[in-house]
Amino acid sequence: MKLKILVTAGDGIGPEVTNEAVAVLREVASLGGHTFEFDAKRIGGVAIVQDGTPLPADTLAAALDSDAVLLGAVGGNEFNSLAPDKRPEAGLLQIRAALGGYANLRPAFAFKELTVNSPLRPEIVDGADILFVRELLGGLYFGQPREWNRDTNEAWNTMRYTKAEVVRVARIAFQLATKRRNKVTSVDKANVLEVSQLWRAAVNEVATEFPGVTLEHQYVDAMSMHLMNQPRSYDVVVTENLFGDILSDEAAVITGSLGMLPSATIGGKVNLYEPVHGSAPDIAGKGLANPLGAILTGALILRHSGGLEAEAAAIEASVRKVLEQGCRTPDLARSNPQGFAVLSTTEMGAKVRETVKTQLLAVSS
Ligand code: NAD
Ligand code: IPM
Ligand code: MN
Repeated sequence: MKLKILVTAGDGIGPEVTNEAVAVLREVASLGGHTFEFDAKRIGGVAIVQDGTPLPADTLAAALDSDAVLLGAVGGNEFNSLAPDKRPEAGLLQIRAALGGYANLRPAFAFKELTVNSPLRPEIVDGADILFVRELLGGLYFGQPREWNRDTNEAWNTMRYTKAEVVRVARIAFQLATKRRNKVTSVDKANVLEVSQLWRAAVNEVATEFPGVTLEHQYVDAMSMHLMNQPRSYDVVVTENLFGDILSDEAAVITGSLGMLPSATIGGKVNLYEPVHGSAPDIAGKGLANPLGAILTGALILRHSGGLEAEAAAIEASVRKVLEQGCRTPDLARSNPQGFAVLSTTEMGAKVRETVKTQLLAVSS
């Protein structure tokens, strides 16, 4: 299998965690006789500083010419006073729009070894396995008009969806549910917003194509509570762009750390892969970042862009193994009753690589 992967590491901990993800993918390639070609381009704050724009033309061209894009994270405190369209985050939104993927899959899996790290009780989080399907190209992020009018002291954004945009992402959610536990929870605010009423009607229509899948609707405010009270009762959760952004970070509480969550954006010209977390300026450059979300994102590249299911599963199994062995980055050691050794970003990456090797040699023998 040949895969051309563009790495846009970005800012803060982005380069630290993507380095580890790439190293794991290189290990998989060399063990399995695959050719993964990696190219690197700038995006975000680093591109603003060096190229004067958060998404340089050559980055976008290389992205469109690749089989998959692995993005680290963008953003930094030094850019916080810039207008939204000038910030590092604008580069991320532009590349998402240009690649065209509209279904952002954000699996939140509660590894048993980490339940002690969740502020929720183990009997609540143990066994939770949720797949968020976040609509990524619509809603408030892209709706027009949007403006801050400084003369009148008003500002507005527009939450807009077409039925076709809802139908296509809902279909992906239902298709994925058929491969899981056959349940879809659609999250909206249909008690207040017309756009949510359209959302709900479109999801109901798609549901008729999938008689084997149970559909439930939740309002986003109640959902944010239920997610903490009964995370195990969810399978696939489909929702609009901003609700999905917020709920997926909330799901980090279930997994024990934001640094554990991967994502894959599918449905467009080129799939985009990014951990859910941001550039974490508070810990950047210190070797404290958890690379497991990025490494699990690498597994999603193999699954969704390479069709390499066994290799993707081997990476996921390796993450589980290193957790079983007691490997922890600082974010996973807030509660550390067993006194596990705390590893740096690169040490954790090395442990996963070693384990992937054993896993894949076992599969091939
Ligand atoms: P953040 O996700 O960067 O960090 C939130 C908290 O989680 C911080 O305390 C951080 O240290 C911790 N954290 C995040 N990832 C971690 C990891 N891998 N290991 C250990 N701890 C980790 O969110 P924020 O602080 O709100 O935002 C910082 C910047 O990142 C902002 O500019 C924001 O816009 C940007 N951001 C970018 C992306 C992206 O590029 N995909 C995603 C979210 C936020
Ligand atoms: C995410 C991030 C981005 C989003 C920002 C940085 C634009 O929070 O990927 O979750 O809101 O989509
Ligand atoms: Mn987010």
